[in-house]
Amino acid sequence: MNQARLSAIGMAVPEKQVVNSFYETLIDTTDEWIQSRTGIKTRYHTEQDEFTSHLCVKAVQDMVERFQVTLDDVDMIIVSTVTPDQPMPSMACQVQHRLNMPRAGAFDAYAACAGFSYGVVLAKGLIAAGTHQKVLVIGADTLSKVTDFSDRTSCVLFGDGAGAVLIEASETGNIGDCITGANGESGPDLYISGFAETIDGQPLKMNRTIVQNGKKVFKWAVTKVAEQMRVLAEKNGLSLDQIDWFVPHSANLRIIEAICNETGFPVEKVLESIVDYGNTSSASIPIALSNGIQSGKVKKGDKVMLLGFGGGLAFAGTVMEW
Ligand code: UT7
Repeated sequence: MNQARLSAIGMAVPEKQVVNSFYETLIDTTDEWIQSRTGIKTRYHTEQDEFTSHLCVKAVQDMVERFQVTLDDVDMIIVSTVTPDQPMPSMACQVQHRLNMPRAGAFDAYAACAGFSYGVVLAKGLIAAGTHQKVLVIGADTLSKVTDFSDRTSCVLFGDGAGAVLIEASETGNIGDCITGANGESGPDLYISGFAETIDGQPLKMNRTIVQNGKKVFKWAVTKVAEQMRVLAEKNGLSLDQIDWFVPHSANLRIIEAICNETGFPVEKVLESIVDYGNTSSASIPIALSNGIQSGKVKKGDKVMLLGFGGGLAFAGTVMEW
């Protein structure tokens, strides 16, 4: 079986930084509440004429600058997003054109906050099958475009961003066994409405913004992620104390702390992006990993567990060695 190697990474956020006090002018909230209930200090929002595709391109450019990789031989682009500039053409096709990757196939995959992890699983599969040699995986979202700024239980959470990785066929693979799973029965707990007015007969709020049952998603995330961390470690022949860094989807710092509490995994060994960037959906894991690598925290040979979870509800993960 061909081995897959994650060889380069980059990230991007918009320039406009949004601090917690901004929300004090919109809704009944405080900086203290936001920080203590979510961990978030700042996030970044796109301008009106700035979209997911722009962040995708910037994240890839960051990766190319930092790792001096070439793109002309990329043969597949997968973009994970729930906030494409438009439903068609895909973000992947726009990136293919703007960054000139003549040999690449391109498509978008969507699994909300688990999307980047699903992209990594897919890329590994394409390489293992021998059909592709160099896959660009991007997790990018502009949740500020689908935020209901009058909903105080959700609007403070969301930020915009993108992360990109290159996954290549190599004799020395560094992406281990993967897990994927879903709890589709809980779809109505976290959604953005589209054409249909119901899911399984349950009426939806038809405002095309994020609607969530925060408490239910919180509980599901803690239980499911704690359980799947153990499954994933075992699948890779490891115990949790052999994992150097855990990179879960950054939805809420309290979710991360509760998972650590549940599993005994040290919170100091978590790479998060929630505090400085908010919940950036598909981008949260690659942003946290990119910063962890750039800051020198993650060292060559470190074992890193990635675990995405979110709307669907769905989850996916893997263990890689940097
Ligand atoms: O990417 C995956 C997608 N989403 C998630 O993972 C979300 C998971 N859930 C969460 O992160 C949390 O449930 C929230 C951050 C959404 C909410 O935190 P919570 O600790 O579960 O708050 P709560 O809903 O239990 O509300 C506690 C109190 C309530 O007041 P009372 O009833 O105790 O008087 C709320 O009305 O906090 C109030 N509250 C707020 N107060 C100030 C809710 N939102 C706010 C706010 N500012 N923005």
